[in-house]
Amino acid sequence: MRTPQPIPRDASQQARDAWATATSAPVTTEPASPPQQPNRSEKASRLGCVALEKSYRKGDLVIPVLRGVDLEVTSGEFLSVSGQSGSGKSTLLHVLGLLDAPNVGEVHCDGRRIDNLTEPKRDELRNQNFGFIFQSYHLLPELTLLENVVAPLAIRFSTLRWWSQRKAIHERASEIIEKVGLGHRIKHRPSELSGGEMQRAAIARALIGQPRVLLADEPTGNLDSATGQEIMALLASLNEVQQLTIIMVTHDERIACQAHRIVRLAEGRVETVNQAA
Ligand SMILES: Nc1ncnc2c1ncn2[C@@H]1O[C@H](COP(=O)(O)OP(=O)(O)OP(=O)(O)O)[C@@H](O)[C@H]1O
Ligand SMILES: [Mg+2]
Repeated sequence: MRTPQPIPRDASQQARDAWATATSAPVTTEPASPPQQPNRSEKASRLGCVALEKSYRKGDLVIPVLRGVDLEVTSGEFLSVSGQSGSGKSTLLHVLGLLDAPNVGEVHCDGRRIDNLTEPKRDELRNQNFGFIFQSYHLLPELTLLENVVAPLAIRFSTLRWWSQRKAIHERASEIIEKVGLGHRIKHRPSELSGGEMQRAAIARALIGQPRVLLADEPTGNLDSATGQEIMALLASLNEVQQLTIIMVTHDERIACQAHRIVRLAEGRVETVNQAA
């Protein structure tokens, strides 16, 4: 197993430390429950898939998307997934994150199969371990930015726990929102945000639950290059300081090469796997 190399980045160390502090501040004394019977060995693969096949059906038309993907992402790795539009990048992220089921093949986390768990178990594992940054954000239109960001914890916690920790959760959410540069938009609804602001809101929401694995679909896709680079510095800091495993889809080669490793999808398969520079 290779050891992930440090990522070159140009944001100041101070900014990275501040971000890492904000995103690691405990909301609760109870850590997220790990998947059942996790293999804690450092050599364990955090997340992977074997012979993954996924197709969509539209009436009589079958659209094969993933045609046998094998992938292993080690704990603490920062992996970038690239490939042409329609090559199946988002589909792969959704299947790895248990948002969608494969037709054939298996998804593993910490050495155990997870795609065949019952739906409640999958939901629990996803909520407690994975953070998603969706390509099209999926912010809830009727909620404010702050309410959107805290939503994963509202789902995770019991009503009692939610109300007893509400203040700490809101404080932490406010810090993360500040760090993604949206402190002045905290009470705004998604319809009142720009595309780049919605993207940053989606990043804040993905981080509130202190995920073990971040699945990021074009996290810089709607940002100008300076803001995109700031977001990359934040992701790199989370990866480096907190050992957050990151699987990031991007079209942008300059963004992709900031990961430890680049996987390219073509015609539903992993075509090449490059070590980033
Ligand atoms: N729910 C669906 N029903 C039918 N076809 C779908 C569905 N979702 C995706 N597809 C098709 O599957 C293929 C792969 O889609 P996917 O979104 O994974 O591609 P992608 O690599 O993420 O593309 P992009 O870079 O444009 O985001 C596309 O041809 C798309 O049209
Ligand atoms: Mg996509």
